[in-house]
Formats: sequence, structure tokens, C-alpha cells
Amino acid sequence: MGKHMGLIGLLMVVVCLSFAASSEARRYIVGGDFGWGIPPNQTFYSDWASDKTFIVGDKLVFNWTGNQNVAEVRKEDYNNCTTPNTIIFTGSPNMTVFTFTLVIPGPHYYICTIDDNCERGQKFSIDVKWPFSTYAPSPTPTTP
Ligand SMILES: *[C@@H]1O[C@H](CO)[C@@H](O)[C@H](O)[C@H]1NC(C)=O
Repeated sequence: MGKHMGLIGLLMVVVCLSFAASSEARRYIVGGDFGWGIPPNQTFYSDWASDKTFIVGDKLVFNWTGNQNVAEVRKEDYNNCTTPNTIIFTGSPNMTVFTFTLVIPGPHYYICTIDDNCERGQKFSIDVKWPFSTYAPSPTPTTP
């Protein structure tokens, strides 16, 4: 039984990886036509993300003009708009189209670190899923 479960687990990983590499992956333009900038209100980007399912292999596209950047930060930094241990993607001052692929499942937090843009709502979080969510390991029960 144990050996079989190990084999099945390995197969699942292989299937997931081949799925992620397939053409099923989607491109999401962050903020839609508005792009990446100081939003009209605080909930703009969370509203944008809320009706989407992000899966390993999907791509995020950031379009912006002017002085913007993208940082992936920890949850605390996301909540407080602080930026230690951050990965920052910057672009040309004029027009930037920056695309990257989601490769790590789980929660991800993105902010702009310039001025008070983050406080003004230029941030969002997503929860990246494995391609077949039913194969994701379920959380260990905390009660006996
Ligand atoms: C925020 O702005 C967007 C775009 O203008 C709008 O669709 C949305 O209703 C606004 N949300 C709030 C809470 O005002």
C-alpha cells in the first residue's frame, strides 16, 4: 500500500508538471485595461483578482507607464506596505510590459514599493493552485 501510494504520488507530480507546461496556461493582465498603477480605489486589484483562479503555469502580465515597480513580498509586508526581503521588478520609465509565470503554488503577495502607492491600493494577493486541485495534499487534521 505504502509503495503504491508513493508511485501514485510521483505520477501525480509528473501529470501536474506536464499539465503546467501545456498550452492550457493562461495570461492574466493585472488590472485589465487599467493596467498596473495607482488604482481608483483600495479594492480595485483585489476585485480584479477575486473572480480568477490562478494555476501553476499561468502568467501574470503587468502593463504600466511612468514610475512603477512590482515586488513580491511576505504577507506581513503586504498588509503593512513594508518592503524588506523583496523581489523588485522595475522597468523603463516610459512603458513597461513585464510578464512572469507562476511556478510556486500557494499564496503570493504583490505590491508597488514606490511612494505611497501600496497604501493607495496598488497591491493584490493570489492563491496559486496546483493544476488538479483534487490532487493537492489536504491539510493535516489538528484534532485527534
Ligand atoms: C473601484 O473602482 C472600479 C473601477 O473604477 C469600480 O468598478 C469599482 O466599483 C470601485 N469600487 C469601489 C468600492 O468603489
